[in-house]
Amino acid sequence: MSHTLPQSSASVTLELSARQIDDFRRDGYLSLDALTDAAEIADLLADCDALFAQPSGFRAGDRLELSGRAAGPALPQIVNPERYAPRLVQGAAYRNAQALAQRLLGPECVPTGNHAILKPARTGAETPWHQDEAYWDPRCDHDAISVWLALQPVTVDNGCMQFVPGSHRGPVLPHELIDADAHGLRLRDPFASSQVIACALPAGGATVHAGRTLHYAGANKTAAPRRALVFGFGRAPIPRATPHDYPWQRPEWYAAGH
Ligand code: NI
Repeated sequence: MSHTLPQSSASVTLELSARQIDDFRRDGYLSLDALTDAAEIADLLADCDALFAQPSGFRAGDRLELSGRAAGPALPQIVNPERYAPRLVQGAAYRNAQALAQRLLGPECVPTGNHAILKPARTGAETPWHQDEAYWDPRCDHDAISVWLALQPVTVDNGCMQFVPGSHRGPVLPHELIDADAHGLRLRDPFASSQVIACALPAGGATVHAGRTLHYAGANKTAAPRRALVFGFGRAPIPRATPHDYPWQRPEWYAAGH
């Protein structure tokens, strides 16, 4: 894996190979070395840091605490960050994310929402195992992906993404709220950790995962903050004859995506 990013602006044009598309269909995730170049990553990182330093000015629900424990480890998230920093969706990173979504989901797929996540140095909490679809409207079938962009190098020690290959082909498993006042979910039951693949990435690298792919990111044990941008895309949800039963959900999530 090359860890050198091209330096010229917007020089990365991403084309998924037939092999990568097959891998995604089989495993439910992909790991990519470069979604964009170093110059754009510097801009995106500056914008994200400014957003997380901003004490107010967000619309209701756009700044969340996923872990929900007032005195515990922090896991701040900004939903719709492009409302406050338009540059986040104006460069090659977003263009490439959209292009690969169209390859994986079809040309008619649409944006389903973005978020920015900060794991503060040493105090950033783990993101528990979950499937994104557990957050989504149980009255519909979904075909959607998330593109997770690393804004600095990521490893297991600062919370890189980890996946269970093939888990996207199974059902949505039982989930529960991380905490009574939290906005985050976690898988209710344990599973064999031998199945887990951790995806270390260089800055500007990205992972892509499907709505049912089981994923996790560890706590940030390092001395530097870990920031990531997540871009969502999906096909139009298809109403089901019989809704799924997701008793862990809060009604306000149905339209919001994750
Ligand atoms: Ni997720």
